[in-house]
Amino acid sequence: MIQKSQLDLRKFVAPEFVCGHGALQLAGRYARNFGMKQVLLVTDPGVRAAGWTGAVGESLTEAGVSFTIFDSVSVNPRSRQVMSGKEVYLSEECNGIVAVGGGSPMDCAKGIGIASSNMRDILTFEGVDRVPVPAPPLVCIPTTAGSSADVSQSALITDEERKRKIAIISKALVPDISLLDPEPLTTMPRKLTVDTGMDTLSHAIEAYVSNASSPMTDVHALEAIRLIHSALPAALEEPDDLNLRFSTLLASLHAGLAFSNASLGAVHAMAHSLGGAYDLAHGRCNALLLEHVIAANYEAASDRYDRIREIIGPAQDERAPLAEGVAAFRKTLGVTETLAAVGVRADAIPALAEQAYADSCLVTNPRSLTCEEIGRIYEHAF
Ligand SMILES: [Fe+2]
Repeated sequence: MIQKSQLDLRKFVAPEFVCGHGALQLAGRYARNFGMKQVLLVTDPGVRAAGWTGAVGESLTEAGVSFTIFDSVSVNPRSRQVMSGKEVYLSEECNGIVAVGGGSPMDCAKGIGIASSNMRDILTFEGVDRVPVPAPPLVCIPTTAGSSADVSQSALITDEERKRKIAIISKALVPDISLLDPEPLTTMPRKLTVDTGMDTLSHAIEAYVSNASSPMTDVHALEAIRLIHSALPAALEEPDDLNLRFSTLLASLHAGLAFSNASLGAVHAMAHSLGGAYDLAHGRCNALLLEHVIAANYEAASDRYDRIREIIGPAQDERAPLAEGVAAFRKTLGVTETLAAVGVRADAIPALAEQAYADSCLVTNPRSLTCEEIGRIYEHAF
């Protein structure tokens, strides 16, 4: 692990956010305050069917703000979807974006914003700080507790030609305000609750052991781990309990503040590669990889993993490693499959490893991994 000091220079970027019951209803007021007259309301068909797009639309109408709905957004949003959203944004003469949904609509909305203001193809922004013109104002209303796209300075877009995910990291992608309301979370199906919750846990663990962690991000990472570990199983039992849902949303917020500033590691590098190639749910990919990456990384950041182990366990056996505690946790949530069971082919491992090796998240992994070592971690998850 790279030696670092708490005196190392670090910056901390976060958007303004409002959290609590009823935050969604503030969408119209904030859109109007940002000077929005015609909004592109970015969402997806599932969120629309659950009624949350309509609720945000009502709030916009009450505030005197017109809007056009764009819901051609899939899981793992595609570059073509971003570019067709940009066309709608321009043809409808929009001057602001409101995103309501999970990570996919929010990442797509971020992409539409920078593609419109820069008049460029979304794939040309790949990398860090490569957005010259700021995006139009963006209001985010998350309906899941996991992606943290509502607070992060990143967006993941799938390049469908090359079947890979690109990461765009820029302060231009930080929303102008996020409205964190627990109520939309109550309509999440069980599997989505689990997958997004495991994404939160992965964000928090990776940020805590990251080479770019700092005292500011550590506080948020540990609190996220504590909250998601206690609240997620309970929220699955009581999906309509707003207090439990809010705890998972707070966990996601803390994890987002941590990873947006400390970056991530091998779990995400490998999950991006899997998600791009197989179009699997991002959180599920993380859930299937997390314990195997912890086992591979442990020696490089043992003090930090031991601190996480104090929260997650396993509690019964003092000598059992954290990786076992994480495996037990995912199993209690019903995640019991392997990579093979979700359709990943063993002969794809070299290409997957190569893609993960090139992912920017790998830079902050506490252990420097070779392509072959990444391949072996995939093998363990089979
Ligand atoms: Fe993630």
